[in-house]
Amino acid sequence: MLSVTLETERLVLGPWQSDDWIRFRPIATDPEVMRYITGGIPWSDEAIRFFVDRQVNLYRERSFCRWKLVEKASGNLIGFCGVGFWRDRLDPEIGWWLARSHWGRGFATEAAAAALRDIFERVKLDRVISVAMPANTASTRIMQKLGLEFQREFENEGVRLVEYAIGRSRYFQAAAPNAAPGPASTASPADGL
Ligand SMILES: CC(C)(COP(=O)(O)OP(=O)(O)OC[C@H]1O[C@@H](n2cnc3c(N)ncnc32)[C@H](O)[C@@H]1OP(=O)(O)O)[C@@H](O)C(=O)NCCC(=O)NCCS
Repeated sequence: MLSVTLETERLVLGPWQSDDWIRFRPIATDPEVMRYITGGIPWSDEAIRFFVDRQVNLYRERSFCRWKLVEKASGNLIGFCGVGFWRDRLDPEIGWWLARSHWGRGFATEAAAAALRDIFERVKLDRVISVAMPANTASTRIMQKLGLEFQREFENEGVRLVEYAIGRSRYFQAAAPNAAPGPASTASPADGL
């Protein structure tokens, strides 16, 4: 099987290994990172392992996932960004979490532009949604910058959420000129939320 790696100016987006969960743990247990995910409650080790294994399996089956983000400069795992499946829904959903140390420097937008481009150009999905709490303006701002459009506000398990979406045709018409994150995906011989 070929291994997919996406590269941007400052980041490498790639598949997970099961034992990466331990490097993802500091991010998923930071109450500030988890503020708009769980209300600030850290994920358990079991939830973290489940998330990482879900990405390993999704990548194996579909050749995309919520990519592991590695910062080129440090070699550190600094979060994830990419398409997975939100809860039990069938609509592919793009999402992003970063280590707090890396917020506010455009990393999420840089990663998300590369992931979205890959999902339409290589994977050829028809449509991608994104879901966030309305107060998570950093996240909804990224959605807007990528060209996703507001669809609806809804409630899930007592939590108000907003849903944005973008389809292939809109992506290629409108978003692509703003979403040129660097080299396209590379493939070399060799992997929900
Ligand atoms: C959401 C998250 C990934 C954003 O990462 P980031 O790398 O800081 O985002 P960017 O630097 O690419 O900024 C995205 C946009 O949001 C804006 N923004 C960033 N933080 C913001 C904040 N706290 N409040 C309002 N706007 C904010 C930025 O200014 C930028 O918009 P601009 O280009 O118009 O200036 C990061 O805050 C995070 O990991 N949060 C915790 C996990 C999470 O909530 N994920 C999303 C779940 S839906």
